[in-house]
Amino acid sequence: MTISNKTLSCRGITKTFPSKTGSPDGLQILNGVDLDVAQGEIISIVGSSGSGKSTLLHILGGLDKPDQGEVNWNNISIYSHNSNKLADLRNKNVGFVFQFHHLLPEFTAVENVMMPALISKMKLDKAEQRASELLAKFGLEGRLHHRPSELSGGEQQRVSMARALMNNPSIILADEPTGNLDEKNTESILSLLFNLRKTEGVSIVLITHEKEIASRCDTVYSLNHGVLQKEV
Ligand SMILES: Nc1ncnc2c1ncn2[C@@H]1O[C@H](COP(=O)(O)OP(=O)(O)O)[C@@H](O)[C@H]1O
Ligand SMILES: [Mg+2]
Repeated sequence: MTISNKTLSCRGITKTFPSKTGSPDGLQILNGVDLDVAQGEIISIVGSSGSGKSTLLHILGGLDKPDQGEVNWNNISIYSHNSNKLADLRNKNVGFVFQFHHLLPEFTAVENVMMPALISKMKLDKAEQRASELLAKFGLEGRLHHRPSELSGGEQQRVSMARALMNNPSIILADEPTGNLDEKNTESILSLLFNLRKTEGVSIVLITHEKEIASRCDTVYSLNHGVLQKEV
């Protein structure tokens, strides 16, 4: 067994939300999800809208808790940590990229990218240098001091990619990162994302509803009726 190189795994994840219509049963969204992602592996998850893809990604990233089941980062259960330790580990190990960039509007591009490092107590000048380097790598050397509202959609998404990478995570969780972009910007974000495997050795979970994008990943899973299945 090659358990040692599983960067990210989960077992038996179930999640039910309140139905909001008074039914005591609730809405069962995830119904026993198992997943293994090896170091440097890029997997995609497809599934119709409302099938639970974002819910699963939030659980894999420790942003939400399942009703049952286990999530492991680098072979350690994330529920074995208290919430402060988990937040600290998440900040260091996991980079999130969302469909809508979730940048802080009152901060500049470089300040947004620095944020995860400042939270993990990196020195200000060192953080600023790394953030500037990452933004330059993504072609944004001329946009360091722009606020999110002063950037195009593609630029905003490149800033959020740089922010996700700031602390050298081992896992990138991307929830429809190109869902809001045109073809040219989609290609640019995807090539940056796919390149990270080579340059940083990260594992990537990419949620997409586009089959063509999914098919470029090592493994494609589909989420249907709360169950994740490998596509062949
Ligand atoms: N906090 C919540 N409370 C109640 N229902 C929720 C909540 N979050 C998501 N849901 C429901 O769970 C289902 C799956 O949502 P989601 O994971 O966002 O799907 P996807 O990302 O695949 O479109 C949806 O039907 C949604 O309405
Ligand atoms: Mg979603």
